[in-house]
Amino acid sequence: MNFQKICVIGLGYIGLPTASTLAAHGVKVLGVDINPNIIESLRKGEIHIQEPGLRDVVTQAIQSGNFTFSTKPEEADVFYIAVPTPFREDEHGEYDGRQYKLADMGAVTSAATAIVPYLRKGNLVVLESTSPPRTTTDLLAPILERSGLKAGSDFFLCYSPERVLPGQIMRELIENARVIGGITPESAKAGRAFYQIFVKGEIIETDATTAEMVKLMENTTRDVNIAIANEFSRLAERFGVDVWEAIRLANLHPRINILSPGPGVGGHCISVDPWFFVEAAPELTQLIYQARQVNDAQPHFVVEKVKQAFFALSGAERSRRAGDGNAAEDGGLSILSSKKIAALGLAYKPDVDDLRESPATEVVHLLQEEGAQVKVWEPFKPDANMPGIDMASSLEAALDDADAILLLVRHTKFIKFVPDEIASKTKARILVDCVNGWDTNNWQKAGFQLVRLGVRK
Ligand SMILES: NC(=O)c1ccc[n+]([C@@H]2O[C@H](COP(=O)([O-])OP(=O)(O)OC[C@H]3O[C@@H](n4cnc5c(N)ncnc54)[C@H](O)[C@@H]3O)[C@@H](O)[C@H]2O)c1
Repeated sequence: MNFQKICVIGLGYIGLPTASTLAAHGVKVLGVDINPNIIESLRKGEIHIQEPGLRDVVTQAIQSGNFTFSTKPEEADVFYIAVPTPFREDEHGEYDGRQYKLADMGAVTSAATAIVPYLRKGNLVVLESTSPPRTTTDLLAPILERSGLKAGSDFFLCYSPERVLPGQIMRELIENARVIGGITPESAKAGRAFYQIFVKGEIIETDATTAEMVKLMENTTRDVNIAIANEFSRLAERFGVDVWEAIRLANLHPRINILSPGPGVGGHCISVDPWFFVEAAPELTQLIYQARQVNDAQPHFVVEKVKQAFFALSGAERSRRAGDGNAAEDGGLSILSSKKIAALGLAYKPDVDDLRESPATEVVHLLQEEGAQVKVWEPFKPDANMPGIDMASSLEAALDDADAILLLVRHTKFIKFVPDEIASKTKARILVDCVNGWDTNNWQKAGFQLVRLGVRK
């Protein structure tokens, strides 16, 4: 098969690296995005995403003349779709008293609709957006067939899950194994020929629904495994155990691999994709649903941890325990009322600039609801425009005046902090570490009181 021109629809974290990699492999690529600002900045050679190695590949691809940009598709040999598939904010589903989130497939629908006028016999359409089971056959194919062409016979149609790790995207795009799900075996073969342009990893052909399910199973498994780690963190506190040490010891068992607890689960994959299963089959997904509940509740647990830290410092812990639980909270006010908190990190995972669905955002909002004044320092996106969140312009600005420091993301720069240097920048002496990033002894020597998630203080 000869693919000379590829139309990549959606130039985000997945589409832009893939489009530029394709162009760098010598094919003509038209990058399409409905956001005109993205198109304008790419035309100037500027990129809107932080990903190691991406800038060089985009620059090289543009300079080669192979990579151009538009807000609309054009005729091409391949149409590759990588648009967002979040959940809907405006509506939810309900089954047996359990509320669940619904997939928002609006971007996939509109991307497919935009392709219809340009679709020709022999073309290949590939969907990489993470999607509910049967999306390719039941949603995408009927839209594309409005062209008058038949999916699977006049044009090829595939689903291929994307499994790259942010921070490693440029390498993993090429090296990871690919599952190519065709709506017919011929479609899967066409998909293989397309990915062979740049993929060095193994390419496995299957059917479209299996490929969709593979992606959802991967992320759901991680969500459930993180939920059990988060539940262990709560149990460890109850029983006076250090969860991090307990996990380390349990993982010495050759067939056990417990993941790390933390402030919750975020990103637009692991915290979203399990809902696609729940929506598709609510009566079959009790465990998946419960894992989502546990992980979504974890930010509340963090807020309790911050409160404990203040209680401990104010010496009120004893009176609180002796009394009715809230005895130390003054006149019904939360102990966090008017407290100034420097929150470190807003990204959903370490060393990336991606803030989508971040549990850190939820923690900040919950602290604010308790009356705390929170300043957030996110070194990977200091100027992020997050509604209702006070972003600090520097670490110093976040620490200035703070009563406590809350470590929410395991960014390498935070883990490398030198306690004495931090002590010289702030009057705060309370630290709450949600990610097991800091050593208690080191920070105590510098005068801090460190409280760790999953460890009873
Ligand atoms: N980012 C990841 O690490 C990752 C990993 C695996 C799978 N995925 C999946 O890949 C898909 C894309 O994710 P992403 O992180 O690249 O999203 P993104 O939000 O970074 O980028 C999507 C881009 O698509 C554009 N867009 C939206 N609707 C469009 C339309 N109708 N036509 C053209 N452009 C449109 C947006 O403006 C945006 O620039 C999602 O389904 C996601 O779940 C992402």
